Amino acid sequence: MKPLLRVVRNQARNLSRLLRGQAVVVPSLGSMTLGRDDIELAQYLLANRAEWDWSDYREQYERKFAAWNGSYCAFAFQDGRVALSAAFVALELQPGDEVILPGYTCVVVDNALRFAGLKPVYADIEQQTYGLDIDSVRQRITVKTRAILLHHLYGLVCRDFDDLLTLARKKGLRVIEDCAHSTGATYRGVKVGNFGDIAFYSSEQSKVFSTSRGGIAVANNPEIANRLGREADRIPVSEELFVERQLHSVILNYYRHRCAEKWWRGDVAELKYGRSKMLSTSLMEQEQRKPTDYMRRMSPAIARLGINQLAKVDDMNEQRRVTACRWEDWCDRHGYVKPTVIENSVPVFLRYPVMVSPEMKTKTSWALDELGISVGLWFLGNLHPNMGRVPGCPRADEAVQRCINFPCLLEHE
Ligand SMILES: Cc1ncc(COP(=O)(O)O)c(C=O)c1O
Repeated sequence: MKPLLRVVRNQARNLSRLLRGQAVVVPSLGSMTLGRDDIELAQYLLANRAEWDWSDYREQYERKFAAWNGSYCAFAFQDGRVALSAAFVALELQPGDEVILPGYTCVVVDNALRFAGLKPVYADIEQQTYGLDIDSVRQRITVKTRAILLHHLYGLVCRDFDDLLTLARKKGLRVIEDCAHSTGATYRGVKVGNFGDIAFYSSEQSKVFSTSRGGIAVANNPEIANRLGREADRIPVSEELFVERQLHSVILNYYRHRCAEKWWRGDVAELKYGRSKMLSTSLMEQEQRKPTDYMRRMSPAIARLGINQLAKVDDMNEQRRVTACRWEDWCDRHGYVKPTVIENSVPVFLRYPVMVSPEMKTKTSWALDELGISVGLWFLGNLHPNMGRVPGCPRADEAVQRCINFPCLLEHE
């Protein structure tokens, strides 16, 4: 939709809500992590383009992330999906190799496999933490299997984590941890992403921390780390226009989503920056085609935002855990099953997942009326945001029909 049309629609909706004595609403970003300091930094960077290629900032970001995460090294990329693509190179996976992944993920994860010529093999999930189900994984292993790509979804450490690690070790398979939702979550006192061979994190706009788009890969084995570093050094940095759009999106997101009471500011920003707004997944990627500017390293300018956000992650994750108690209580009072926090884990609750009826997932106005929130619909298909299905994953199919999620970082100024 064109920015002007969006503004007119938004104004009309909010004026009509005000006339009816209802609170105005702003669209949810899923996880609003941006503060005034972030937009001031974005504005500073837009005014000082000469600083965009000061690579010291990216190195600083990578060092700080690795130290905070307890990892040997970290490398920053344009997206989490790109960090995953680099991980395949670092693990020396070859075209035709099979990789087992959850049949309940983002299409960009599946794309990364396909772009590398790897064969995605979907395993079913369990419905306690929405992670890979160990029995389903066992059934999918063949002589061509080289790796298991597991995830910690919604910020929950996956239920079968220990068993998956043990199985992989026994079968000589690589483990890739998808920590796109779980930056900062811990298991046995160690941050997730440090248990497998390699891991990646996302700082896309709806994630635990945000640089509008962004990703990081970490490794602890020096050989894998060297190959990862070589791949990061080989690829070009994000194009200038991409970086500009990221910075505009940071400002736009702040004004559009941060503060319902001042919703008109979002409309002003929409008119100014709406054309720059970035889709998390381009139409080309939804069609599973590789964009020409796909394989890119993070710009140092964006890394500066990353440094700023990283300093706030622990506090934000603590806030999320506090809000999660509210949703736990809601589940108890209404008879919904709560997601499982596995023993010895500390989740980050990027979002709080709940299974409801398919009707409640289709028509979500009840949440606004009853709880004053916009619910999230991850995932709308087995390969979100694509609506299509993958074979042999009935529990994932059910989650597609019934799993919604509640926000855990509340969007007030
Ligand atoms: C589970 C999961 N893995 C990976 C990704 C990819 O992260 P990015 O958007 O940074 O490429 C996403 C989201 O976009 C995701 O939800």
